Amino acid sequence: TRVAVVFGGRSGEHTISCATAAGVLRSIDRDRYEVVPIGITPDGRWVLVDDDPAALELDDARPPVVVTADGLGRGEVSAPLGGGDLVVTTAGGSTALGRVDVVLPLLHGPYGEDGTIQGMLEMLGTPYVGCGVLASAACMDKQVTKVLLGAAGIATAEHVLVEPHRWMRERASVLARCASLRPPLFVKPARAGSSLGITRVTSHGDLEAAIETARAVDPKVLVESGIVGREIEVAVLGGRGDQAPRVALPGEIVMDADQGAGEFYDYETKYLAHDAVQMVCPAPMPDATRELLMSTAAAAFTALGCEGLARVDFFLTDDGRAVVNEVNTMPGFTPYSMYPYMWQVSGIEYGELVAELIELALA
Ligand code: DAL
Ligand code: MG
Repeated sequence: TRVAVVFGGRSGEHTISCATAAGVLRSIDRDRYEVVPIGITPDGRWVLVDDDPAALELDDARPPVVVTADGLGRGEVSAPLGGGDLVVTTAGGSTALGRVDVVLPLLHGPYGEDGTIQGMLEMLGTPYVGCGVLASAACMDKQVTKVLLGAAGIATAEHVLVEPHRWMRERASVLARCASLRPPLFVKPARAGSSLGITRVTSHGDLEAAIETARAVDPKVLVESGIVGREIEVAVLGGRGDQAPRVALPGEIVMDADQGAGEFYDYETKYLAHDAVQMVCPAPMPDATRELLMSTAAAAFTALGCEGLARVDFFLTDDGRAVVNEVNTMPGFTPYSMYPYMWQVSGIEYGELVAELIELALA
């Protein structure tokens, strides 16, 4: 089976996507799968790159990994042709890569995790791993996610939506509406990941600047009430056709401020302050709470129309409520990422997990 592993991309999570690809390239079963690694540059060019996980890994001592036409790239890949054939264009001319059986779109954030590449692959008739167009788009947008989960009776944090036109014309009334939310507030770009553009705000006076920071990432912004509780993540797999989604044992993000964790699970804490975060799986909790989280994760997966995989992120409140923070349709697969770790604890090794995802796409 020829698998195109696509990573990098146009979003702010380019480097994280490269780290995810490194993890997958290291562990994919080479006897079973022939790998075609394709990087997408930040400006959207598709480049055939070396099959070299070490060159893609996240390393806080080195500058971020970026796919470039000259650096990692050996050539440029044109838009895929019908029937799933990919054509590589190099200085010397064009070379067909031949048939690609399945695409593994390891892209995080806009132009990848948001239904765009999924739509392109649907048009081409090429099977791909993970959620389809609607679920990818819905989960990419934190406000749309809330609407769909709310309709299914699943709790999310209270919020105020800051639409671009309101912010430009009715700023004072937007800020006044936010005053009804319980602090601390979390100001978030609606469509981003890895906590990019998110600010924790404790004083109303800092709100305007935080909204501007989020708007620099996405003009659509959410201001949310902070939920006091434990951060629990739940991995979901499968759920294609008549198959029910499978749910792994919940994992917990435990942060240690003394070791350099930020005030929330921000970008630095996620990927750079390695001593400050522990991934604890299974997260200790009463059986009934575990069952609540796992069944709510499956319900959220279904409500959003997910297929293949997703990681459902929760706050577990002191009084035992499961509040969904967000749903990631292409969760990180880096060494600091929960999704593959939670499946490992539940009995599926990393390489086996990748194989399972690919076979689901081909089924
Ligand atoms: N958006 C990052 C990659 C995650 O959810 O793991
Ligand atoms: Mg996330």
